Amino acid sequence: MTQLIDNFNRKVTYLRMSVTDRCDFRCVYCMTEKMRFLPRDQVLTLEELEFLGRAFVELGVSKIRITGGEPLVRNNILTLLQNLGKLSGLTELVITTNGSQLTKMAQQLRAAGVKRINISLDSLKAERFEAMTRVAKLDQVLAGIDAAINTGFERIKLNTVILKNRNDDEINDLVEFVIDKAIDISFIEEMPLGVISEHERSDTFYSNQQILKTLEKSYTLIPNIENTDGPSRYYNITNTKTRIGFISPHSHNFCDTCNRVRLTTEGRLLLCLGQEHSIDLKHIIRTHPGNMTLVKQAIINSMDIKPKGHDFNINESSQIIRYMNMTGG
Ligand code: 5AD
Ligand code: SF4
Repeated sequence: MTQLIDNFNRKVTYLRMSVTDRCDFRCVYCMTEKMRFLPRDQVLTLEELEFLGRAFVELGVSKIRITGGEPLVRNNILTLLQNLGKLSGLTELVITTNGSQLTKMAQQLRAAGVKRINISLDSLKAERFEAMTRVAKLDQVLAGIDAAINTGFERIKLNTVILKNRNDDEINDLVEFVIDKAIDISFIEEMPLGVISEHERSDTFYSNQQILKTLEKSYTLIPNIENTDGPSRYYNITNTKTRIGFISPHSHNFCDTCNRVRLTTEGRLLLCLGQEHSIDLKHIIRTHPGNMTLVKQAIINSMDIKPKGHDFNINESSQIIRYMNMTGG
């Protein structure tokens, strides 16, 4: 089988697919309050998403993560998941969600073949949750987390963004919460994606190094040597089932082992989260509908422009104008 290998000898086996730019939240680090969303005809249809998913799997991609925006607010998203779940060669179908729809959908997701699930949660305090997401839905998300736990996913992980003087005093509480529920957590450093107005990113930046220091006062953390080929560094907390991950795009350059590409809501294939190198797959599939050979060749060719790495700098005005909800968080 043809494999996707770039000019730096990295094998691409992981696709992150953003299925909608819409979301029922407006997290302050992700969006502006009055976000404008894409007109429908610019967004890939579910059939187009499935077609592209199939192309990637035929090219050796074994893992697909469905993201957004909030993927579970897309109409008929379960149909896409069910169809992707049937692709032979796809060993991991996973999803990232804000948790708001999980009480309704957790079981159907599991039945469609979703094995693991990441749920975003930045605060356990209702008022603060609302300040960070601009919606009052903490209880709904907490119920969603419990629904996911009761459904029996192989792994459930919280994704948490810590912002200085906003929720940095909740680091221990959030870790206690995941230990209690026997699930995992990853701390993600805020990245300068998109132009936001709510805060200066340089004022709110809180490094994972600081989080690790805080946690080491209360817990014994054992570095987990399992290599996930991803940007996360994991630790096990002794005497618990919980793993803690750190995604530190600012201090830790993980580009050498990058195995992933991203499909935006508009069908642009992004070769790197922190760069604009991309190809327009929507144009190809709309001008040559159903032509699998052509689209696969375009994907193979895109490997030539996968950049060596990224370099985020929060002190300069955001160079990346793309928002996370388009990119696939
Ligand atoms: N920097 C870091 N994380 C972000 N997320 C969204 N926008 C940003 C950003 N600018 C996070 C969400 C979610 C995850 C998928 O990405 O909180 O947990
Ligand atoms: Fe929605 Fe996720 Fe962005 Fe928050 S971070 S606004 S939940 S897409």
